[in-house]
Amino acid sequence: MAAMGDDSKPRVLILGGCGFIGRNLVDYLISNDLARAVRIVDKTPPQTAWLNTKHQEVFNNPRVEFRSANLINPASCENAFASDGDGDFDYVINCACETRPGQTDPVYREGIYKLTVNCALEAAKHNVKRFVEVSSGHMCSTDKSPHREDSKAEPWTYVAKYKHQAEEELPKIPGLRFTVLRPAIVYGIGDKHGLAPRLVIGAVYKHLGEMMKLLWTKDLKMNTVHVTDLCRAVWHVAMRDDTLSQVYNVVDEGDTTQGTISSLVSEIFNINHDYWGTAVSTVCKTDMSGVVEEVNDKHMGPWAEACRLSGVENTPLTPYIDQELLYNKHLCLDGGQLARTGFQLCVPRITKDKLREILEDYVVMNLFPRSLLM
Ligand SMILES: NC(=O)c1ccc[n+]([C@@H]2O[C@H](COP(=O)([O-])OP(=O)(O)OC[C@H]3O[C@@H](n4cnc5c(N)ncnc54)[C@H](O)[C@@H]3O)[C@@H](O)[C@H]2O)c1
Repeated sequence: MAAMGDDSKPRVLILGGCGFIGRNLVDYLISNDLARAVRIVDKTPPQTAWLNTKHQEVFNNPRVEFRSANLINPASCENAFASDGDGDFDYVINCACETRPGQTDPVYREGIYKLTVNCALEAAKHNVKRFVEVSSGHMCSTDKSPHREDSKAEPWTYVAKYKHQAEEELPKIPGLRFTVLRPAIVYGIGDKHGLAPRLVIGAVYKHLGEMMKLLWTKDLKMNTVHVTDLCRAVWHVAMRDDTLSQVYNVVDEGDTTQGTISSLVSEIFNINHDYWGTAVSTVCKTDMSGVVEEVNDKHMGPWAEACRLSGVENTPLTPYIDQELLYNKHLCLDGGQLARTGFQLCVPRITKDKLREILEDYVVMNLFPRSLLM
């Protein structure tokens, strides 16, 4: 059981707390002394979650407790919420999700839709003050105008498809006090599948001494938000009454594109980059799975070699990009609704320094070749 701090502070349950966003949220709540107790629930134990030293320290804080659960299973979910006699949780944040690429449709359905509904039902049963659902920003693929929360949703990834179905269930659960957040691409320390694969690909081209060539054009929208701002947004909406039953996009002000990211990656690794352009990329689209396999194969071998040469023996980082993220589909969000509640960003746009920070953390952990960052 987590040790109790100041009684006036809330107890918080973070589902999927060992993941990228979850661990940063635990850190945010503990470092800012916002919670008297935090329970992390995850099916992955902290010991195998590749936590950095700071996150390990936070997880070892006496106010933090870990409980193992597979939230797809209702009995395990019930156990995750069980109070141990010190009262119900005040706030429940759902960061748990099947995020591994390349799974089948039923695996995503169970690991996202079923998991979220299980957790939301349990949150309602325990009468929590707020259930914050960390959903997906991939709800529309055009760049004609930034997607607003009340515009038609056309989810274009497996995760977004089942997150959207789960979002639609939340208002139907009697007594559930919820808020939904739809983040853009989240990046920051501990990122493995947001921007990390693009950073690894940059490293691969540095290792190969070749120009990095990307599908489509620099104008492809890939809006972003720093993980610290997402954590701040979670707490901001949880603390306010006017955010009840609302949906908010969480996105920075930089209107990040593939061009923004590739330029920063090229600067970091001192490489050149170019684009195949729309015509060639459209031809690739006729055999996208073949192209994706070829591209991923081209990157995987040199990445393994670069790691071996630098003494990186085992790493969760990979240059693998899932096929569904390689079409010319935009991630372009309007963050105005959250801003109108008074939320202000700490990291208004993505920078080279913020990206380097992710890699430097991995270098210290010996998960990324130091030689490629020099
Ligand atoms: N990272 C991003 O760029 C991004 C962007 C938008 C939305 N999101 C959403 O934010 C949420 C968290 O993302 P993340 O990047 O931290 O992902 P992550 O994969 O790093 O973390 C997810 C965590 O959930 C846990 N989990 C998965 N299935 C579980 C189960 N059945 N029972 C218990 N635990 C389970 C995993 O072990 C993992 O620790 C997800 O819903 C994701 O879709 C992420």
